[in-house]
Amino acid sequence: MRLALVCQGMQENQERVFSFGRTSCLPKPNQYVKMLVGEYRDFAFDESRAPQNRGLWRQEIFKTDANCPLDLEIGTGNGFHFGHYASKNKDRCLVGIELKFKPLIQSIRRPLRVGLKNARIVRFDAKEIEKLFADQELNNVMIHFPDPWELGPQWKHRLISDEFLKKIHSIQRSGSFVEFKTDSANYFRWTLERFVRSEYQIECVTTHLHQSRLVQGNFVTAFEDIFMRKGLRIHYIKVIKN
Ligand SMILES: C[S@@+](CC[C@H](N)C(=O)[O-])C[C@H]1O[C@@H](n2cnc3c(N)ncnc32)[C@H](O)[C@@H]1O
Repeated sequence: MRLALVCQGMQENQERVFSFGRTSCLPKPNQYVKMLVGEYRDFAFDESRAPQNRGLWRQEIFKTDANCPLDLEIGTGNGFHFGHYASKNKDRCLVGIELKFKPLIQSIRRPLRVGLKNARIVRFDAKEIEKLFADQELNNVMIHFPDPWELGPQWKHRLISDEFLKKIHSIQRSGSFVEFKTDSANYFRWTLERFVRSEYQIECVTTHLHQSRLVQGNFVTAFEDIFMRKGLRIHYIKVIKN
């Protein structure tokens, strides 16, 4: 009863209620929740701690200099790409955002298992990204297979919106990119429309990544593999912040 009251109070004080349940308010934390706040707390941050890193990722969290590139992956899933990217880019820092506890722990375990210290994971709603990063704090942003919310009434749940693109544009440094992949032709068109009317410059677009020259250097994520096995085309957009 007391826990419920404390959590209710916390939510009322927030600008937007965190719709996925706050880690600290879960009545029965499972093993992954416990790992997030326990064993992995130096590398994983819940919704209460993560915003405290805003503006401080390079110096305080990664203990690196102001010029070190800092990239973001939104919706890491089980972390195949997250782990791969951290190991291929040891001279860059990587933050991942994920809502679900098990994939979040799977993601951060991958770089840590091979001794990498250049990755951190955050449990947060990516729609509120401006609470995690200060203006021009980030370099590249990768968004691979966000939930497509295909039905008309569900579109309001889509991550990509004009408002969201404005937010990521302002937290990125000039010369950085946003990379977007989806299996959904509908979500691809929706996203392209919004990029076209945003401040970003379109760098490349394809509706069939695996039959285009852009496939060179592409890493197949867990969901990409599932969609390819089903014979679906992978749609790809890359834009630049000038
Ligand atoms: C379809 S999966 C794709 C996972 C991975 N990127 C891949 O390609 O295999 C989408 C992931 O995004 C996460 N997600 C969905 N909405 C999110 C949000 N608003 N903020 C952060 N993560 C989110 C989900 O929990 C899920 O793990």
